[in-house]
Amino acid sequence: MSLRNAIAVIVCVLLAPNAMLAQPSSMRTRESFNDGWRFARFGPMPDGSSTPEPGGDRWSITATASSEELGKGNTADLALDGDPQTRWCAAGPGREQWLMLDLGRPVPLGGIEVDWEFADLAYAFKVEGSDDGKPWRQLAVQPSQPGTKRLPLSTQARRVRITATELPKDKWASIREVRLFAADGQPICNRRLAASGGPSAAAFDDAAWRALDVPHDWAIAGPFRDDLSNDTGKLPWQAIGWYRKHFTVPAADRGKRIFVDFDGAMANAKVWLNGEPVGGWPYGYQPFRVELTPHVRFGAENVLAVRLDTVRWGSRWYPGGGLYRNVWLVKTPPVHVGHWGVYVTTPVMHDEGGEVRVQVSVDNRSQAEAEPKVRAEIFELGTDGSVGRRVAHTSAPPQAIVAGGAGCFGLIGRMPRPKRWDLASPNRYLARIAVTAGDTADVYDQPFGFRKIEFTPRDGFRLNGRRVELQGTCNHHDLGPLGAAFNLRAMERQLEILKEMGCNALRTSHNPPAPELLDLADRMGFLVMVEAFDCWKAGKTANDYSRLFTDWHAKDLQAMVRRERNHPSVILWSIGNEIAEEGGPELAQPLADIVRAEDPTRAVTAGCNNPGAGTNGFQNAVDVFGLNYATGSYAGILAYPGNRQKPVLATESASTISSRGEYFFPPGRGSASELDFQISSYDLDVPGWAQTPDEEFAALDHNRPFMGEFVWTGFDYLGEPTPYNGDVNHMLGFSDLARREAAKKQLAATGRLKVPSASSYFGIIDLCGFKKDRFYAYQARWRPELPMAHILPHWNWPERVGQVTPVHVYTSGDEAELFLNGKSLGRKQKHPFEYRLRWDDVVYAPGELRVAAYRDGKLWASDVVETTGAPAKLLLAADRRHISGDGKDLCYITVTVADGKGRLVPRTHNLVTFDLAGPGQIVAVGNGDAASHEPFQARQRRAFNGLCLVILRGKPAQPGAITLTAHSAGLEDAEVTVSTAGPAGGP
Ligand code: GAL
Repeated sequence: MSLRNAIAVIVCVLLAPNAMLAQPSSMRTRESFNDGWRFARFGPMPDGSSTPEPGGDRWSITATASSEELGKGNTADLALDGDPQTRWCAAGPGREQWLMLDLGRPVPLGGIEVDWEFADLAYAFKVEGSDDGKPWRQLAVQPSQPGTKRLPLSTQARRVRITATELPKDKWASIREVRLFAADGQPICNRRLAASGGPSAAAFDDAAWRALDVPHDWAIAGPFRDDLSNDTGKLPWQAIGWYRKHFTVPAADRGKRIFVDFDGAMANAKVWLNGEPVGGWPYGYQPFRVELTPHVRFGAENVLAVRLDTVRWGSRWYPGGGLYRNVWLVKTPPVHVGHWGVYVTTPVMHDEGGEVRVQVSVDNRSQAEAEPKVRAEIFELGTDGSVGRRVAHTSAPPQAIVAGGAGCFGLIGRMPRPKRWDLASPNRYLARIAVTAGDTADVYDQPFGFRKIEFTPRDGFRLNGRRVELQGTCNHHDLGPLGAAFNLRAMERQLEILKEMGCNALRTSHNPPAPELLDLADRMGFLVMVEAFDCWKAGKTANDYSRLFTDWHAKDLQAMVRRERNHPSVILWSIGNEIAEEGGPELAQPLADIVRAEDPTRAVTAGCNNPGAGTNGFQNAVDVFGLNYATGSYAGILAYPGNRQKPVLATESASTISSRGEYFFPPGRGSASELDFQISSYDLDVPGWAQTPDEEFAALDHNRPFMGEFVWTGFDYLGEPTPYNGDVNHMLGFSDLARREAAKKQLAATGRLKVPSASSYFGIIDLCGFKKDRFYAYQARWRPELPMAHILPHWNWPERVGQVTPVHVYTSGDEAELFLNGKSLGRKQKHPFEYRLRWDDVVYAPGELRVAAYRDGKLWASDVVETTGAPAKLLLAADRRHISGDGKDLCYITVTVADGKGRLVPRTHNLVTFDLAGPGQIVAVGNGDAASHEPFQARQRRAFNGLCLVILRGKPAQPGAITLTAHSAGLEDAEVTVSTAGPAGGP
């Protein structure tokens, strides 16, 4: 944006409410561009095979591998390029790794030579052959021995797979060259094929491609694969994906500027219009705009083509793949508000009056100099987005902008009695900006809010002058069974559940969010820390953001801040999570400065895992020092003499792990390896660096200057299933040898060669949105005025009669009495720094457990857990009985395996099948079991500890009643009916 033009500041004229200004009719439109795409996937396919990309620059023999060290560029094809200086290398050490060659057609083979990178490592390997990837036939076996030797083959095969079978567990599989020989002994040469007209070309034939609407995540349909990494969810997200959309631009739009806004495209997006490159953006979480105007065919068909590449993308969690967020078509007049060109601040705020500053950047894309008039009206904005009373207006005098240039206009509005945006009353306003130039007008709506935020060194965070404890959760971008594909209702439901818990703050870990998340946070009253990166220059996984950092970090930071700086919910910008460069302020300082240059009204922070960053100068580069975990360092950081003025925050905390409804005995740290890749729900299990909720609460209560915490995590997410994030060679990540041996035995006994876990155990709430016990630990602390008590575990332990079976209670009361079958087991008080009540010596007998909780000596809340009868029936509960028929709105239906009295029966895993009647669709199913490989897109699901989930939606424009019926062998069926209305609220 050019600041060439002086900023004009005009004081507003206050108008009587609703007084009308002549409203120019706007030429700006913004419409959804989500529908009617065609999609095809190339490169690695979901079933493990590979499909060449049409028109791609490629080899005659294609090579794929179980993993590639992409960060260093050691890709599979380098083992077939005839150059012994280059090599294929696996992404990590000690796993069973393979390299596969595809000859394109069955070829009679006579022999093979494999040059491993280190001859002295003497890898043992096997060679298999196949025509279609299944089944594989063993062709040759090479026991461990140094040097390269030609292995004879006498078969015909299209595909050849080389698997290292006895890799030392700290070594990477790495092949310099593979040489194949034909049956007549001649070498089979690999040739470079020239690129030719691919899907970017307008004339490319995409008729056979899949028709779909976005948002779309190309990997969530699965299948889960044993050979894929646990950390990225065992789903086939790595691929090359092409999306093409045919659309017509009316002749009447000639003269307008035409843009497409992508809210995020995973990843390495490149975009063409009618065969011409128009832009792209590599960082898969960043929204970006491309301008189509120069290449648009007005009054005719146009083709937009998008190429995405997640093969060259690295992640510590499941990123998904595709056009997974909304896409918009924007049309403006030539003189218009620039991209993210409005910045509203509210520097003055008193009960009697407030000041709004609106900075507008205007682009002149006409052929001539323009002298636009810029004015703004301020309206009240309803939580439902309805535009209410006008409360102020202001305008700036015209100023000249040269053709092709940009101008900046500053406007100041004063208004009486601004209503503050606050958590319980998220009042918002709308700045409606009109830019008129000649006979064109561009009207641009920008919501904002009045609120005062302060980050204090000793009194935490203040909102509108009052200390507000940050009761935050960190969350990834995926939406459980829906994968990364954004859905507004799915996100809103997550926030509703978090709100019920008392969560008031969100951290978009570790990347910029879907824009709608922040709109929801504004409307629903959440505070948000928007985070930019998970690494800077030094990466964490091969091919992650470190590869882009040098060229892109400034652009990415600017884009993040410019897009989100008007949200009242956003209070903090995080420039990074647990980045390697925490040793000092050198890199943090310039990054923080980039952010401050775009928005000086909020605080900059970073999530540091190195407590040293709290004293080594790093802390001074940020406005709020954010520490992840490391509760033992809180006091020291506060006591450090240089930190007297430093606001501090637990940017990431807890990381307690559990599986909903699983309990292992005796409860305690380390019961994780007990059973089938689950983790006990007594909320005492944490990885080495982490804390239980209770330990974190105590740390915060001992160190009040900390402004609160962001718990890792609100919801379980796909990938990173700590502690089960390794295969057998990592032996479940246990460092204790005895536990590792025990785990090995368990694996052998269950016959599983690979750890199946595919989603996290960190969530307070599981992947489906079902609450784990921990939900109530947080609710008890975060909503102290809500009378509540929660007992754990369940009380169905026929095998534990007579055995000690501890009972824990979370309550917002201060004492409680526990009864087993009517007999008191004692009344207990919460002592200082205690956050749960424990009866650790309860001897199990079936029946009824009841707790009566007290506050200040008066009965406050109660809870009951009963031993249930056998499973007898299914129950269905829809979160809403009426949903919109826009084809996007969702209904979440909880399926419960219940006994004859309608009580959830714990420890049940019944298979439930679903029938659907009416104009609806099952979008996904799930059950919250992190170790399940059942597909999310199916009409059946096993219950996990008594529950599973169906996500439904209506068919667009077909209002009516949708009936879901659930069946399970031996159980009574259940049925629920949900009605969909037309998008405009009609029948
Ligand atoms: C943190 C990290 C998170 C997640 C978490 C698991 O150190 O910032 O992304 O990996 O550990 O406990």
